[in-house]
Amino acid sequence: MAFADKLEQVKKDFEKDCASCASAKDLEEVKVKYIGRKGLLTGVLRSLSELSVEEKKEIGRKANILKNEFTRKLEELKERVIEAGEKAARVDVTLPGIRRRTGNLHPLTLTMSRINEIFVSMGFRIAEGPEIESEFYNFEALNIPLDHPSRDAFDTFYIEGEYLLRSHTSNVQIRVMQEQQPPVQVIMPGRVYRPDAVDATHSFMFHQVEGLMVDDDIKFSDLKGVLSAFCRSMFGEDIKMRLRPHFFPFTEPSAEVDISCIICGGEGCRVCSGKGWLEIMGAGMVDPTVFEAVGYPRGKYTGFAFGMGVERIAMLLYGIEDIRLFFENDVRFLRQFR
Ligand code: DAH
Repeated sequence: MAFADKLEQVKKDFEKDCASCASAKDLEEVKVKYIGRKGLLTGVLRSLSELSVEEKKEIGRKANILKNEFTRKLEELKERVIEAGEKAARVDVTLPGIRRRTGNLHPLTLTMSRINEIFVSMGFRIAEGPEIESEFYNFEALNIPLDHPSRDAFDTFYIEGEYLLRSHTSNVQIRVMQEQQPPVQVIMPGRVYRPDAVDATHSFMFHQVEGLMVDDDIKFSDLKGVLSAFCRSMFGEDIKMRLRPHFFPFTEPSAEVDISCIICGGEGCRVCSGKGWLEIMGAGMVDPTVFEAVGYPRGKYTGFAFGMGVERIAMLLYGIEDIRLFFENDVRFLRQFR
């Protein structure tokens, strides 16, 4: 191959190698390969000895031009590579950060804690009782007779003999009163079970918060005062509360407690079925038979009790339309309550 062609080939190879350089180190290798002491271009210059003086001059000149060109090109590329590296390493403080996901409390836990907090602030203490309960605590002591519909074996989750999954938190009232003399002022949150077919508003397991206050002279007006204070704290100062006569075996008189609809304010809407009121709990004055069952002296004390469903209240507060959402463990739902 003629020397001129050799130079041309070296130049082509050099350019190809340069194109695949990504770092200063790659460039250094290319430099050594072509213009180092044992480099390809240096090699061409060395082998000029076989040529005539004229040719030596001509090719030597060309080779030197090429060497300068290579040097310049390598310098230029080096600068570019360094610059790109610096750019990549620079921190852009305007970029959005990486959000770390922290856990959060379940909406039912939040609702239950809020309910508890309000009653604790009024002097109630929190008590708990078993979810597996005997007929005595779940029914008998609460003045629910044998022929009461909720005692039907097919209507309740029986476990063995007289044991069943409690159908309400009222069982804890009995346990608390057996353990202490008045004044009693407790709330009793917990899980309850009923063999209801599951749909948008029913679940075989749900939560209640029960309340009980017993002393020498507790009146119906105390019940009304405590519950309306609770409703205002829970749902806002403008909320209205009403008591509707009802029947519960363990209270006399008994009432269902309604609040003015928190969606429409009482006008009537889909959530309150056009009534303007929402039922949120049952309540009443403790039936003397219940005091008897726990061994309190006859006629000595009076008291009130109440019980509310936590799911129902959470659904109203958060605008949740299907109770099943609470129990499906779908994080897309659960994440919304922070
Ligand atoms: N135990 C009732 C239920 O599960 C709720 C209830 C009503 C509790 C009236 C009470 C009460 O303490 O006084 O439906």
